[in-house]
This record gives sequence, C-alpha cells and structure tokens, in this order.
Amino acid sequence: MSWRDIAKIELHLHLEGAAPPAFIRGLAQEKNIDLSGIFDEAGGYKFRDFVHFLSVYEAATEVLQSPEDFYRLVLAILEESAKNGVIYTEAFISPDFCGGRDLGAWKEYLHAMQEAAAIAEKRDGIILKGIVTPIRHFDPEWSKETAMCAVETKGDFVVGLGLGGDEGQNRPKDFAYAFDMAREAGLRLTAHAGEFGGPQSVRDAINDLGVERIGHGVRAFEDRALVTELAERGIVLEVCPGSNINLGLFPTWKDHPIANFRDEGVKVTISTDDPPFFHTTMIDEYNGLSKAFDWGQDVFKEINTTAANAAFCDETTRKALLQQLE
Ligand code: ADE
Ligand code: ZN
Repeated sequence: MSWRDIAKIELHLHLEGAAPPAFIRGLAQEKNIDLSGIFDEAGGYKFRDFVHFLSVYEAATEVLQSPEDFYRLVLAILEESAKNGVIYTEAFISPDFCGGRDLGAWKEYLHAMQEAAAIAEKRDGIILKGIVTPIRHFDPEWSKETAMCAVETKGDFVVGLGLGGDEGQNRPKDFAYAFDMAREAGLRLTAHAGEFGGPQSVRDAINDLGVERIGHGVRAFEDRALVTELAERGIVLEVCPGSNINLGLFPTWKDHPIANFRDEGVKVTISTDDPPFFHTTMIDEYNGLSKAFDWGQDVFKEINTTAANAAFCDETTRKALLQQLE
C-alpha cells in the first residue's frame, strides 16, 4: 500500500506558504517584480533560519496582489494536496496579505478563494476551510481589524481564528482582544505556540487566548505537567514534523516528540505547514513517520480520525469526513 491511498486530513497549512516556488516566480515575471534573492540555484526557496524564513515568506507574498492571484493559488495548492490523498484542508489565510485588512477587499479575495475551492472540490473531492490569521510580529493593534474581517465573513468557509508568525515577538495576551471577538462570534480558535517558544508560550496561548488547538506545540514536551494538562484538557496539537526538522528543532525524524505525545495521550494530528519551503508533502510526512516509529495504517487512521473530530468545520462535513476515513 502506498501512503498516497490513505485519506488524509490536514489542519495546519499556510496558504501563501504552500505556494510552489515556480508559481511565485511566474507571477513575479508577469508583474516585473525582482524576487531572485529568495530562490536558490535549484529554484527552491532559500532561507537561513526561522526568522529569515518569515521574511522570505513575506517577500513571496508581494507578488500575490489580487483576488485573481489567490484564485490561481488555491487551485494550484488543492491540486497538489489532492495528489497527496488529502480530502480536507484547513488553511491559514491572512487579511494582512489580502488587501491590507480592508473588509471590502477581504470579501473580494475570499470570494475568489471560495470559487477556486468549489472547482477543486468538484474536480478532486477535496474540501478547503479558512482560518483567518493575524501575524504575531506585526502590530497587535492590526489584529483587531483582522478579527473584524474574520467575524464579518464567518460562515461556511471562514471557520476559525489563528495566530502565526514570530513567537519571539509580542505576547499572546496582546492578541486577546481579537481572540475574544472571534470567540464571541462563534469562530473556533487555534494559535502557533511551542514551536520556537518554550512551554510557557503554550501555557500563555491556552490561558490568554482560550484556544482549543495549538499549532506545533512540540516544545511542550519539555514540561511534564504541561503534557499531562494537554492530555487531560484534550487540546489538539497540529504537528508538522517535516517543518520542525527542516527548521532545525529536531535533528532527525526519530528525535521528533510526536510519538511521545501520542504515548502520553495527547491528541496529535499531522500537517505540512509550508510544504515547498520545507521540502515536504503529506506523503513525505507519512513516509518519515512510518519509518521512524514503525507506524502503520491503523495509527494514521486513528490520527486522521482525531483530526476530523478536531476540524473546525460544520457537523455535516465532519460526518462525511469520518465516513470517508472508514
Ligand atoms: N507562518 C508560516 N509558517 C509558520 C511557522 N512555521 N511558524 C509560525 N508562523 C508561520
Ligand atoms: Zn504554521
């Protein structure tokens, strides 16, 4: 059996971070924008470390200037995800990169993304939902406008609020206003924490933002009491092993704590984060984990069931996903 054939649910994918380098280069050429500095000789993205990765990521977003660009981007990404056997994806989408947090512009970008998602769903059966995401190293005041964009467009497609960006800057509580707005509107909540920040960063995200899922969260493993708390509270980790290894958090797949979390009863899921940046795919993630931990089909099925239950979608979609996993 190839890992291609297992139905997969991905809860942690950055829309701009999933842009193939050739796609970004093509748009740069069309628009006469010089982005040569962000690519290596093989044509892939080039960066030194996490903070540099974030600046290369933002440079790549400079060519994504219109709803039409996002329409093309969503089509390209979902085609690739479907080839990896992904049946459902939640993508982080950012009003910061889609019209500068202007609500009218945001609605146009969203419309384009949803049109593309509908075509992909019809073509490949893959479902896309969006998690609106303020960026932690931007001005926290902006997150109020971002949350407003999320609240005003909450619905079948916009299902949650997240927090991405540099965990070394600002604090979760600086974004509490945005998260409170989103919670009151009925949006579901997640935040990146415990990737480059330690266990306290995970505690702060849980206590100050009230999230039910954590993006990464892997450094929680340094704190036994926190691991127990994650297990007891049923907080779900959106784990992205290939991303963590590529960014140097763990030297090899065998050193990654995902299996330890699972052994401790913490709910884990598997995602790619920014696949072309980290030279990974969902199939690569499954290959790496199966080799490192001798995981077979049964383990992946259990993890995908966890992901379906933790997805921010409506109950009808969840039921259909759970059926497809059977
Ligand atoms: N934005 C895109 N990828 C990210 C990551 N791995 N961590 C934080 N912010 C991000
Ligand atoms: Zn991420």
